Amino acid sequence: MAARGEFSSRTAFVLAASGSAIGLGNIWGFPIKVASNGGGAFVFTYIILTFLLAYPILMAELVIGRYAKADTVRSVAAVSSSAFRPLAFMTGYWGMLTASLILSFYAIVAGWMIAHGVGAAAQIIGVSDSWLVSESITRSVLFSAVFYVLTIGIVANGVASGIEKWSTRLMPVLILLIVALIVYIAMQPGAAEGWKVYLQPDFSKVLEPGLVMDALSQAFFSLSLGVGTMMVYGSYISKTENLPKLGATVAGMDIGIAVLAGMLVIPAMYVAQHNGVVIYDEAGNLIESGRLIFNVLPSLFDTMGGAGSMVALVFFALMSIAALTSSISMLEVPVAYATDSRSMNRKKAAWVVGMAIFAFSVVIVLNASWLFDWVVRIATEFSEPLVGILFCIFVGWIWRRDQLLTELKQGSPHLERTLFWKIWPNYVRFVCPLIVVALLIRSFG
Ligand code: PHE
Repeated sequence: MAARGEFSSRTAFVLAASGSAIGLGNIWGFPIKVASNGGGAFVFTYIILTFLLAYPILMAELVIGRYAKADTVRSVAAVSSSAFRPLAFMTGYWGMLTASLILSFYAIVAGWMIAHGVGAAAQIIGVSDSWLVSESITRSVLFSAVFYVLTIGIVANGVASGIEKWSTRLMPVLILLIVALIVYIAMQPGAAEGWKVYLQPDFSKVLEPGLVMDALSQAFFSLSLGVGTMMVYGSYISKTENLPKLGATVAGMDIGIAVLAGMLVIPAMYVAQHNGVVIYDEAGNLIESGRLIFNVLPSLFDTMGGAGSMVALVFFALMSIAALTSSISMLEVPVAYATDSRSMNRKKAAWVVGMAIFAFSVVIVLNASWLFDWVVRIATEFSEPLVGILFCIFVGWIWRRDQLLTELKQGSPHLERTLFWKIWPNYVRFVCPLIVVALLIRSFG
C-alpha cells in the first residue's frame, strides 16, 4: 500500500472539510427551503437539528476514519468484530456507491452553474450568451465534463497537493464573494422585504412535521454525512488533533455559510419581485427551485443593467467554487478505496473512477428528468440516512468501547472534563439512530 496522505495542519482540515460541507446544499438548497418553510422558523429548527443530529454523526465518521486511517470499506471493517465484518463491508461499499451517485447528479447541476458563469463572462465582453444559458443536452454534457476534469485533476494530485491546496485557496474566495454579493443585493430596492421574511420567524411552523423533516435531511446532506466523505477526510487527520473541536468548527462553518447564503438569495428573490419577476405561482407557492436559480436570478441580473452581468458572473463563480470543493470530497471516497484497498496508483484511480461516474452522468442527462429525480431521491432521502444509522451502530454497538474512547481522547487530553465526553458516547448509540429512523419512516410513510 502506498503512503497515505495527511492534512498538513488543523486549518487545512477545517477548510477542506468545510469545503466539502459547504456546497449547493447551502447556497441553493438552504435559502429556498427557508423561503418556502416559514422563513426564520426553518433557520431555527435547522440550526438546532445540526447540533442535535448532524454533529454527533459527523463525530462518528471522523473518529472511525482517524482510528483506522484507511478508506471507508476498510475503516468500518477495522472497528468491527469478525461476526459483523460482512455488514461492515456492505456499509462501506454502500456509502461509496452513494457518494458516486451524489456526484453523478451534482456534477450536472455544477455544469449548469459553470455554463451560466461563462455566459455572464460572454455578455461582459459583448458575445451572445444564448446557447450557454438555454437548456440542451450538449450543453449539460459539455459543462459537466469540464466540471469532472477540474474535480478529477484536483483529486489526482492527492490529499496535500490536491484537496488541501485547492480547498485552502478556494474557501476564502468563496467567503469573500458571498459577503460582497450580500452587501450589493442589500442595497437594491426590494431587498428589505426579503430580509423581513428571512428574519421574522413564523413560529407557528416550527413544529410542523414537514418543516422538521426538511430541516433534518438538509442538515444531513449539508454536512456531507452518510456517504463516508467525512470518514475519509477524518482518516487524513493527525492523531494529535482534538477531534470534537475540529468537528464543531466544521459544523459551525457549514451553518454560518448557510445563514449567509440566506442573506443573499432571499433578499435577491424579493429584489427580483420588486423588478417585476414572478417568484410565487398563482397558488401562492414559491416557484420551483431550479427555475428560481436558473431563471429568476438571471432575470434579476438582467434588470440590473450593466452591473448585472458582473453580478451574475460573481454569483455563478461562487456556486461553481462551492460545488467544486464538495465534489472533490465525493470523488475522494471511491478513489481512496481504489488506492488503499486496491493498491491502484492515485492518478489512474482518479481518472478511471471519475470517468466512470461521468459516463453515468451522461446517462442521466440523456434520460431527462425522471432518472435525475430518482437518483437524487435514492441517494439523499434513502441511502444517506441509512448509511448514517449504520455508522452510528458501528460506533455505538459494535466497536469496542475502550478502543473508541481511547481514539477520541487522542489529541484532546482534557476531554474527560467536557460535556461532549459525558453525553456523546451514549447519545450516538441510542438517540441518533432513533431520530434517523423517524426521518426515514416519514419519507417512506
Ligand atoms: N455537503 C454538500 C452540499 O451541501 C453535498 C455533499 C454531500 C458533499 C455528500 C459530499 C458528500 O452541497
